[in-house]
Amino acid sequence: MNAFLDAYRVLSRVLKEGARLKLALSELPAGEHGLTVKLVYSALEHEGYLSLCLKTFAKKTPPASVRIILKIALSAMLFADMPRPVSVNEAVELCKTVGKGSAAGFVNAFLRAFDESKVAVPEGLEGLAVESNFPLFAVEEIAARYGARARDILLAKSSGVSVRFVRGMERYLGLPHKDTPFERVKIFANFTRDGGFSRGDYTFQSIGSVAVCSVVEPCARLLDACAAPGGKSVLLAEKCGQVVACDVHAHRVRLIESYARRMGAENIRIEEGDSARFEPAFDCAFDGVLCDVPCSGLGTVAENPDLPQNKTKESVAALGKLQTAILENCSRYVRPGGLLYYATCSILEEENDGIVRAHLEAHPEFSAEAADCPLPHEKTRYGLQFLPDTAFGAGFYVSKMRRSE
Ligand SMILES: C[S@@+](CC[C@H](N)C(=O)[O-])C[C@H]1O[C@@H](n2cnc3c(N)ncnc32)[C@H](O)[C@@H]1O
Repeated sequence: MNAFLDAYRVLSRVLKEGARLKLALSELPAGEHGLTVKLVYSALEHEGYLSLCLKTFAKKTPPASVRIILKIALSAMLFADMPRPVSVNEAVELCKTVGKGSAAGFVNAFLRAFDESKVAVPEGLEGLAVESNFPLFAVEEIAARYGARARDILLAKSSGVSVRFVRGMERYLGLPHKDTPFERVKIFANFTRDGGFSRGDYTFQSIGSVAVCSVVEPCARLLDACAAPGGKSVLLAEKCGQVVACDVHAHRVRLIESYARRMGAENIRIEEGDSARFEPAFDCAFDGVLCDVPCSGLGTVAENPDLPQNKTKESVAALGKLQTAILENCSRYVRPGGLLYYATCSILEEENDGIVRAHLEAHPEFSAEAADCPLPHEKTRYGLQFLPDTAFGAGFYVSKMRRSE
C-alpha cells in the first residue's frame, strides 16, 4: 500500500478528469486507506490555499501531474503531521513511480524551500475564498446576504455521518453521536457499515435530505422527478400511497432500484425519463411533485470538498436553465389543488428563490405556501434555506407551491 500513489490516482481522477471524489475513492483496491483519505480530503479542502502555496514558490506553473504531487506532499506536511523529510522523499519517489522522474529535482527543491510563513493569504473576501475553497463569486454572494455570518457558513465542517434508522437504532446508540431534531436520525463521529445496512435497518441519508422530505405533505400519489439515488423517494414512500421515482440516467435509475429493494419500499414505481420533457400520461396526475433538481451542490461542500472544482457563475447559470426547464415541465403534472416542491442542495440565491420567483411570476396558478421544519433554517421569500453553520454542515433549500383549484 502506498498512500501517496493512491492519493495521486484519486486526485488525478478528480482534478484532471473531473470524476467525483467518492467515485474515485471507490475505485481504489480493497484495503486500509486511512492516510490516503486524509491526504485526498485535505488536498481538496485546502485546494485554494495549496494553489496559492504553489503560486508563491514556483516561478512557472508546473504541469498538472506535478501540481498534484506537490499538493499531496504539502497536505502531508501541513495537515497530516508527516515529518517534512518523509514527505519530500515520498513525493520524489512518487515522481519516479508515475513517470515524472524528470520533475523529481524540481519537486525536491520546491518542498525543501517551502515555508508557509511566506504564503500571504489575501485580506477580505478573496482571503475567505482561499480559506473556504468556495469560488469568489459564491463568497461575494453569501457575504452580501449574510454579512459576518458568511465566514461560519462557508467554513462549517461536516458534523459526521448522518444515519437514518428504520429499526434497531438502540443497538448503535452506544457509539458517540449527536441527536438531531428527527428522532430516528443520528449523526455519528464514525459509523462502520454492517449487516444492518443490507437488511435495510438503516440508511446513510443527509440530514438536509431528511429535512426536505419533512416539508413534503403525505399524499396518495407523489412524483419524485429527479430521484436517483433514491434517498428521498424511499423516505417519502413511508408517508405517501405511491411514489413514482424518475431519473434521466439509466445507470442512476438502477441505484434507485437497489436502494428501494434494500429498504423494502414496495410502493415505489421507478421510471427512466427526462423530467424536462412533457410526458402526457403524467398531465395533472399527481397530488404532489418534488423537483430535487441537479444543482451546484455548494451546500454540501463540507462533505464533498471536490464540489467547488470548476464551479463558475456561468456553470451555475447553465444549470439554472435545466432547473427552470424541469420545474416548468413538472408543474404541469400537479393536479389542481396539489403541491409542487422545488429543492436543491445549494446555498446560492440564483439556484433557489431565484428559480422559484421566475416560476411564480410566469405561472400565476401557483403560489408559495408557508413551510416549516424542525431543523434550523432561514425563511426566505419563497422557501426554507438550511445553512451549514446551523444545520449540521448541510446547506439545502426547499420551496412549497400550491396549484390553484
Ligand atoms: C440532486 S440529485 C437527486 C437526489 C435524490 N432526489 C435523492 O434524494 O436521492 C439530482 C438528480 O437529477 C437527475 N437528473 C438530471 N437531469 C434530469 C432530468 N432532465 N430529468 C430527470 N432527472 C434528471 C440526476 O441524474 C440526479 O440523479
